[in-house]
Amino acid sequence: MRISPHHLFTTEITFTLILFLLKDTVIAQQEGASVSSGSNVGGKSYNCDPNTCQVSKDCLCASKNPPNNLLPQDTPQFVTITFDDSVQPTLIETAYDLLNVTFASMQYTDFSLVQEWYSAGHEVADHTFTHVGNPSESEITSCRTMLNSYSGIPNGKIQGFRAPFLNFTSSTLNSLKKLGFTYDSSASAIPDDAYWPYTLDHGMANNCWSGICDIQIPGLWEIPMYAVPDATGIPQLMDVYMAGSPEDVSKWSTAAFDNHYNGGRQPFGIYIHPTHLTAYPGLPDPKPKLDGLISFIKSIASKQDVWFVTNQQLLQWMKNPVKVSELKDQDYLKCQQPVINKEICNGLDDNGNGQIDEELTNNCNFGATTFKTCFNCPGTAPTLDNPTPASSVQNGTAGYRYPIPDNCDTQWWDPVQNTCLCTSSDCQYKDTALPFSTTGSGGKDGSESSASVSSIAQSTAYIALATSMYAWL
Ligand SMILES: *[C@@H]1O[C@H](CO)[C@@H](O)[C@H](O)[C@H]1NC(C)=O
Ligand SMILES: *[C@@H]1O[C@H](CO)[C@@H](O)[C@H](O)[C@H]1NC(C)=O
Ligand SMILES: *[C@@H]1O[C@H](CO)[C@@H](O)[C@H](O)[C@H]1NC(C)=O
Ligand SMILES: [Zn+2]
Repeated sequence: MRISPHHLFTTEITFTLILFLLKDTVIAQQEGASVSSGSNVGGKSYNCDPNTCQVSKDCLCASKNPPNNLLPQDTPQFVTITFDDSVQPTLIETAYDLLNVTFASMQYTDFSLVQEWYSAGHEVADHTFTHVGNPSESEITSCRTMLNSYSGIPNGKIQGFRAPFLNFTSSTLNSLKKLGFTYDSSASAIPDDAYWPYTLDHGMANNCWSGICDIQIPGLWEIPMYAVPDATGIPQLMDVYMAGSPEDVSKWSTAAFDNHYNGGRQPFGIYIHPTHLTAYPGLPDPKPKLDGLISFIKSIASKQDVWFVTNQQLLQWMKNPVKVSELKDQDYLKCQQPVINKEICNGLDDNGNGQIDEELTNNCNFGATTFKTCFNCPGTAPTLDNPTPASSVQNGTAGYRYPIPDNCDTQWWDPVQNTCLCTSSDCQYKDTALPFSTTGSGGKDGSESSASVSSIAQSTAYIALATSMYAWL
């Protein structure tokens, strides 16, 4: 699969097809399709003093206004696109055909596809091992451990979490803090509480109806999920395109976006279960919904000062908010791909022959279940309690794959040679950024700053690992 910058937004959308949720027919279980409103039932009201809670002390109060007293017109309009659930191979093959997809039931996420996703510049986040509500700590750690071991994502780059079914408790959030996560993104923001991301030092300012607002978790960020109210005012959260005709959905989404854009410039989110936009025999053709979503994304992307970012990029900006005119100078917002002149197993087409990691990935087979990885296959099938069973190939023998160390990033790690191909600051990168709109310059040459638009189309995937179809049907 090629990632072509010339298809910036097509690429984004086709990525919807590679992450996969096997429960689209089980509407009752849909993750947070619409959200409850009402506030502070059973919780004290949110109280946070911005004079003492400051970003320099890893604290930020919930607010509808931009951080650092930035004026809205100087503030970037960030948009995050997130994809939930597992990653399956039949979907990636047809990503560029958008809808020509065959249904395959596989138990595990395909780890080499996750690695491709990450290496292309997107973020990978934790969504538990077996996709359960109110997850235990081992559900959270097993997912992270497997993403590290089989997709080669450095532990420090797996910073985010979303609870399956958006079902979390204070114990979930306390676990995240204890396990060293940077943020949660499971809370719902109806327009009344559409706050910028904030830390949980002084409680949660969203989801108070669930009685969770009294928590105090210093330094853990919440990136609320921003709802789109439908025609009757009901907030729709994930898969808004499932709630009405493409025309209606586009109208609601545009109105919700404009509220942020013309208001406090709070980030706007598009939360997708790719399976809903994927064609399956016997189900209605999702193409009109997909087309509607693409045209909505194009319409907001063509507005000035709109940037599509990952949650991690958003938080980097929150910690050091700069004016939109300075965004293109921020290193963490650059679209860079490493230049490596031989094919290594890193999720990229390093030698430019149109194939990614050819003849380098391992096929791990466990009866009905298979997955590909650049790393060692486990000797037995992973389980919740033993997510990374020992490999039968030993260190130092032929075929052994070396695990990624925390001081090398995935794109540069050669697991066969046990080498990090970037160990200094002069590593070669190529810039893959392109301006989207003709009304402004993108990040690439930065020749003009009066009309800046996003050149960034990065997004975050929340990955649950063992979402077999049987779990949902
Ligand atoms: C779908 O994919 C199959 C197998 O790759 C191919 O034979 C078929 O022509 C494709 N159909 C469309 C509509 O592209
Ligand atoms: C949350 O998940 C737990 C564990 O799966 C379940 O018992 C509970 O009913 C769920 N709560 C909601 C509100 O769905
Ligand atoms: C592999 O073996 C070498 C030599 O015994 C050792 O230094 C190294 O730490 C081992 N690496 C792993 C990943 O086990
Ligand atoms: Zn999910």
